[in-house]
Amino acid sequence: MRSSFTALAALAVFAAPAFAQELPQPVKARQGQFNIMALNLGILGGMARGTVDYDAEAAQAAADSLVAVSMISQPALWPEGTDSSSIDGTRALPGIWDNIDDVMAKWAGFGEAAKAMAAVAGTGKDAIGPNMGALGAACKACHDTYRAPE
Ligand code: HEC
Repeated sequence: MRSSFTALAALAVFAAPAFAQELPQPVKARQGQFNIMALNLGILGGMARGTVDYDAEAAQAAADSLVAVSMISQPALWPEGTDSSSIDGTRALPGIWDNIDDVMAKWAGFGEAAKAMAAVAGTGKDAIGPNMGALGAACKACHDTYRAPE
């Protein structure tokens, strides 16, 4: 009895990290795209706040990266059954799949805000601030409705 419990416990220890890595590829891919977005938004935000020195080339590159991510085709990243009620390791709320048109409209809104930023990010520090608001709002609009809190 005791030894089989020990064996099970050992199994659990080894199984846990393995399960954590078993996130479906589309989920890993969409989380990756969001992390690229957060990284680049952070670069622009730092320049807008003045915690990072403004650098026209780096600002343009960050904004261009946001535009590039906005062009990634989304349907492949959102297969049915990858919501937070169905699997662990995702914060994608089930409501996404009942409102996919609205989700994609919000995604398009992010794309528009990214393009507006890219149009001016290289022209000077003062151009970044006003566009940060719109970008941040585009992220928030989707997260408020479709992303579970941490
Ligand atoms: C159209 C909806 C939508 C938009 C727009 C959006 N997000 Fe998200 N975001 C989500 C959803 C849904 C998740 C949860 C994904 C998951 O866990 O599978 C998420 C997750 C994230 C995560 C966590 C990723 C991880 O490692 O788990 C970050 C960071 C993030 N978003 C940043 C951003 C930033 C920055 C923006 C704007 C520049 C943005 N998002 C715009 C819907 C959106």
